[in-house]
Amino acid sequence: MDQNGKRVINYLRISVTDFCNYRCTYCMPPGGIQWLPRTDILSFEEICSIVNAAIPLGVDRIRLTGGEPLMRHGIMDLVKMLARLPGIDDIALTTNGSRLEEFATVLRESGVNRINVSLDSLRPGRYCEITRGGNFDKVWRGIEAAHSAGFGIIKLNVVVIKGINDDEIEDFAALTRKYPFEVRFIEYMPVGPTELSNRFTHVSAEEMRNRISALGQLDKLSDDSHGGPAERYKLQGAGAALGFISAMSHRFCSSCNRLRLTADGRLLSCLFSGQSIEVKSLLRSGAPPEKIAEAVRLAIESKPMVRPERCSSFMSSIGG
Ligand code: 5AD
Ligand code: SF4
Repeated sequence: MDQNGKRVINYLRISVTDFCNYRCTYCMPPGGIQWLPRTDILSFEEICSIVNAAIPLGVDRIRLTGGEPLMRHGIMDLVKMLARLPGIDDIALTTNGSRLEEFATVLRESGVNRINVSLDSLRPGRYCEITRGGNFDKVWRGIEAAHSAGFGIIKLNVVVIKGINDDEIEDFAALTRKYPFEVRFIEYMPVGPTELSNRFTHVSAEEMRNRISALGQLDKLSDDSHGGPAERYKLQGAGAALGFISAMSHRFCSSCNRLRLTADGRLLSCLFSGQSIEVKSLLRSGAPPEKIAEAVRLAIESKPMVRPERCSSFMSSIGG
């Protein structure tokens, strides 16, 4: 909130591609989804035009997502272009980690400050099942490569699903005693077509905390300086924090500071609202920067204060 009690939207999540090399069971059908045609995907110049329009409206932080952002050809060039924009203080990346081993150093050099890696199991066999083919050891080497490359706090995102990986909550929590990686438990959200989302059940953050408490005292920490949605704790004897993102049980909409840009050039003010504002056609019809800024302002103003019912788009196409 700013001094007038108005919600500040300073964080833009950019999906740079809808494509992913994984097919996580809760995210996609086995055969993947109908990928967007190449011509529908925003160019780097178009992305920068939108970011430029968003900066005067308060956006100073960016997160690149996908699908899998490291599958977008030439992604480092985009990072460098964004890092050069005056007014952008922070560039973060959310990745499945499959290509982090090769990219960690160059990401850091190009201007990425922070990295989140999705990691839903610590057991290689199960990891391979959940992701439908992912290689746990390779991802772990990627996480270590990111650490060696000088990324500060690396966050590991765990989407917790009943009967799938909830028996690993304690193992994940204990990881923060051994490694400098912040583990963030995310309540599974029923996003996507109902045939997919009906098959999975979330575990509440409260239940997770109760279970972790058996390992030792859990002390509440102040919120992330970046104002993210996680409630943070520290487990006794741990160096790194534990975060809980209560996407289902807690409604943090009124303090949500983010806006999303989809790979095909739509601005979404909320994951759960079906509404989006098409900016690609504006850009491609040669609209002046004021018109683009107007579209961004409209998206910001349409952000709901309470959560709409549900979202039927695939998570990978709206950027997590
Ligand atoms: N519920 C919660 N988190 C999800 N993610 C993908 N789909 C869902 C879902 N249905 C997570 C990914 C990644 C981040 C971008 O969003 O695992 O960590
Ligand atoms: Fe890819 Fe992330 Fe979806 Fe898994 S959850 S298929 S890594 S976009």
